[in-house]
Formats: sequence, C-alpha cells, structure tokens
Amino acid sequence: MDKKRILTGDRPTGKLHLGHYVGSIKNRVALQDEYECFFIIADLHTLTTKPEKEHIEELADNVRSAVLDYLACGIDPQKSVIYLQSAVPEVIELSLFFQNLVTVPRLSRLPSLKDMAKGAGFEEMPFGLLGYPVLQAADILLPRAHLVPVGKDNVAHVEITREIARRFNNLYGEVFPIPEVLVSDQGSLVGTDGDAKMSKSLNNAIYLSDDPKTVEKRVMSMYTDPNRTRADIPGTVEGNPVFIYHDVFNPDKEEVEDLKTRYRAGKVGDVEVKQKLARALNAFLDPIRERRAYYEAQKGLVDEIVYEGTQRMRQEARETLSIAKKAMGLASVWNRIARKAEERRKQA
Ligand code: TRP
Repeated sequence: MDKKRILTGDRPTGKLHLGHYVGSIKNRVALQDEYECFFIIADLHTLTTKPEKEHIEELADNVRSAVLDYLACGIDPQKSVIYLQSAVPEVIELSLFFQNLVTVPRLSRLPSLKDMAKGAGFEEMPFGLLGYPVLQAADILLPRAHLVPVGKDNVAHVEITREIARRFNNLYGEVFPIPEVLVSDQGSLVGTDGDAKMSKSLNNAIYLSDDPKTVEKRVMSMYTDPNRTRADIPGTVEGNPVFIYHDVFNPDKEEVEDLKTRYRAGKVGDVEVKQKLARALNAFLDPIRERRAYYEAQKGLVDEIVYEGTQRMRQEARETLSIAKKAMGLASVWNRIARKAEERRKQA
C-alpha cells in the first residue's frame, strides 16, 4: 500500500524559534515515516503582504535558513520532499481554476485574512491576499495530499481547501482526496517575556540556531513571577514561562518537580531555576546544532536539497495538472485545435 501524503510548510520569513519547533516542526519530523511528506517553502504567499522588491531580495536567504532549520531538526531529505513554491508554476494554474470554486464573501469573512491585512497596514484587501487560502488550497491539492498538519490559525484555510476539493470533484469527477486537517495539540509557546506567543517581531524568541551563550543570556533575562523580588518569597509556578519551558524541554521530571516545590515554598532562587533551564535547553538544542553543522559544512548541500525536492514536486505537479485538465475537459479544447493544425501542416 502506498503511504498517504502530507503537505504542509511555512512562508520563508527567517530563522525558526522554539515556538515553531513545538508547534509544528517536531510533529513533522515524527510524521515522516508514516507519510510521504511534502514540505513547501511558500515564498509566493509572502508576496500577498510584502510585494516590495526589498522583501523579495531577502527570500533566498530566508529560504535557506528555513530549510537549514528543518534539516537541523531532523527532517530527512531522503524521506521527505522540501520544495520552493515559486519554482513550481503549476500551482498558479491550479489556483486559477480554484478561484472559480469559492466565493468572495466566503473568503472575506476569514479572520486570518483580516488580521494579515491589518498587520500589513492595508486599508483595503488586495486581490492576492483575498486569494491566499485559494493558493494554499492549490499547494495542498497539487500533490493530492490527504493530511495537512497546521496550527490553529490555518485550520480555516484547510476547510476552504476541503470545500474547493469537494466542489472540483462534484463538477469534474473524483480527482482530489478531501484532505484532513491535523491541528497541532501544542498551542503556541509563550515568549521569554511572558507574552502569549513567541515571535520574532516581539523580540521574545529563542532561536533553534542560537548558540549556548545566547540561550543562557536569553533565559537569564526571562520573565518570571514578578511578585517574587527575593528568593525566600513563595512563587507561582502556573503560567510562569520559566516553568512552562521546563515542562516542555527539561526531560528530568524529578528535577523540575523539585524546583517547583521549592519555588512555591520560597526555597530556591530564580538564578538556579534559570540555570537549570538553560542547561536543559542547550542539551535539547545540541543534537540540532550537530545536524546543522553537518549540513552547513557541505557547501551547496542545502540548495541541492531544495533543488531536488522542487524537481520531484514538479513531476507531481505536472501529473496532477494533466489529470485535472483532462477531468475539466480543458485539455481537449487545445488538443482538438492542435490535432487539426498538425493534420493541416502534414498535408502542406
Ligand atoms: N499559510 C501558511 C502560513 O501561515 C503557509 C502555507 C502555505 C501552508 N501553503 C501551505 C501551510 C499549505 C500548510 C499547507 O505560513
């Protein structure tokens, strides 16, 4: 039996942090054996909010850094396909077909698009941004994926994808599987400042590429229980980012429980709690660093991996497009014209 397929990925916006790891990358690494995985670097999607040339110029570096992060985390190019969206032009053709299978009001109601427009400072919705979920549907259905692991913010987009796939199949015949969404059960990771979400723009992130010293520095300046101005004041563990990180990244549960007990009793200093966290985080990051070093040491290897993944995806894309156009009857419009034209040429 052929493996079922996964498609998921990210816009290339720069290096990835611990929040990305727990929210998605970890899950992707784990799914690689059971599924045939396609990981998209969705550079075309960045154009929907950042069409300026200065941003496009940053894409190549951002793509490399995202892919290196994937590889460092254990995404294995022998098992999975990593590819660059803009180098698979078939996605645009499929997206255009899909634009006819969804309404403007359906898209306009999506909170995610309103948020993105607002975040980008747009007064009015650009046509391309409104089409963001339609392009995403084309990403997902291009390899005819069965499963789409995403964060909460993307669930509504996968729902649009399912609607489009159903509509396509109703109109033209069964071409696409109706993809299931797999929502990461791990919500977003708090930032080092205690903000609900770790993010680059909030400057509250620990990056997968941070060196041990940087990790230590960021941990030592982390937000903790603000009422605890001295080590002998009992502290609150619940919702405390330092302990949230301990729970997620420190495999030594005994140590964590001991720290919690002493923290609640006012019998441990923040410094000790943080030093142990920094140690745990660095131990967690060490194998990631090792793999990163391996890939970095071989010049051009990351590019070659993206290149080959993209070639592989293009084959899939051509096949799907050919099936879709046949089902739609669009292929035969041209075929009939081409056949007659060739007949005439032969006679001449
Ligand atoms: N929309 C995703 C994001 O928020 C990126 C993305 C583009 C994607 N195409 C996809 C995710 C297809 C899953 C499947 O960055």
